[in-house]
Amino acid sequence: MNLKNDLLLRTLRKEKTERIPVWFMRQAGRYLPDYIKLREKHSFFERVRNPQLAAEITVMPVKQVGVDAAILFSDILVIAQALGVEVEIIEGKGPLIADPVRTKDQVDNLTPAHTQDILSYAIPTTKAVKEALEEAVPLIGFCGSPWTLLCYMVEGKGSKDFAKAKQFCYQHPELAAILLDKITEASIIYLKMQLDAGVDTIQIFDSWGGLLSPSDYRKFSLPYLDKMVKAIQPRVPVILYAKGAWFALPELEKTGASCLGLDWNIEPLIGRKMAGNAVVQGNLDPITLLGPAKNVEHETIAMLKNFGKGNYIANLGHGVLPQTPFENAKVFVDTVKNYND
Ligand code: CP3
Repeated sequence: MNLKNDLLLRTLRKEKTERIPVWFMRQAGRYLPDYIKLREKHSFFERVRNPQLAAEITVMPVKQVGVDAAILFSDILVIAQALGVEVEIIEGKGPLIADPVRTKDQVDNLTPAHTQDILSYAIPTTKAVKEALEEAVPLIGFCGSPWTLLCYMVEGKGSKDFAKAKQFCYQHPELAAILLDKITEASIIYLKMQLDAGVDTIQIFDSWGGLLSPSDYRKFSLPYLDKMVKAIQPRVPVILYAKGAWFALPELEKTGASCLGLDWNIEPLIGRKMAGNAVVQGNLDPITLLGPAKNVEHETIAMLKNFGKGNYIANLGHGVLPQTPFENAKVFVDTVKNYND
């Protein structure tokens, strides 16, 4: 492997770099005009499962926005599919699981053993992406955290508070543990497939971690993340992103993950302190990118100053929003690239 730009990987290894690496969570998609054109012709899972389409989409933000890493085009919900649950993505609305998992029989019927078969396309897809990247930048593989997957699998759709999912956990903690174990098992199989096919690092998205209290986080999220990090970190650096779960940063560091993602609700220096020796990543409010451009530049510089030097990856505090003007995404990336202090 001889990457032309390995800033991200060197930062994850805590090496010194000439400048701060930058990429966006959810960078491959929704706000890119060329992606929106592709969306008219192919359904979401067609785009995910077709190696050429997935490769074309994955490379778009590298070529067009100039980010320092690519992230495999897919979705966290493929793990629900791996376990035998039907998932639809409704355009403009989000994921829909018509038959959410709420009973013991349903949980018993989920089978992690089929993961390799059901997600077999991930191997040719990842290889096609690596080829299309021509060693320009590293490729990030990913999956959701078991807790965040449980949220969708039990609730059946997106939600502000995932009340049904939380109620399920509080009413049936033993059943929730079995479900979380099965999601963990399927996720580890899937991540190892991505690794075998050539991804350079892994990010785990615990997007709804912040819905839990610290003690519930220790019950329903942390142990499963710990198991995943222990399985993957020996092979590549792991980035753990737990939105809203700043209270768990010290415990997330103890998993051994190389890097912890931060959202915009935490002061950079406090985040750094709580993350201990881990590299930190984040944390601009994605709404800043809606503009004006001058403010994007101003806020990005303020963020870079606040984080200070070294062991840092510039990113947003959550995914880039679909209504983001393409030009403002570029302003963010260029501001990081031109910053030297
Ligand atoms: O560049 C990338 O980020 C790679 C692709 C990627 C997608 N989803 C593609 C996608 C990644 C990393 C994800 C992760 C994901 N998916 C998360 C974790 C990150 C986060 O935002 O918190 C979550 C919670 C999901 C679940 C999900 N999938 C939602 C809530 C939605 C609908 C809302 C939306 O984001 O538009 C999806 C659909 C989805 N996944 C789209 C894309 C590009 C939009 C559908 C489309 O373009 O047709």
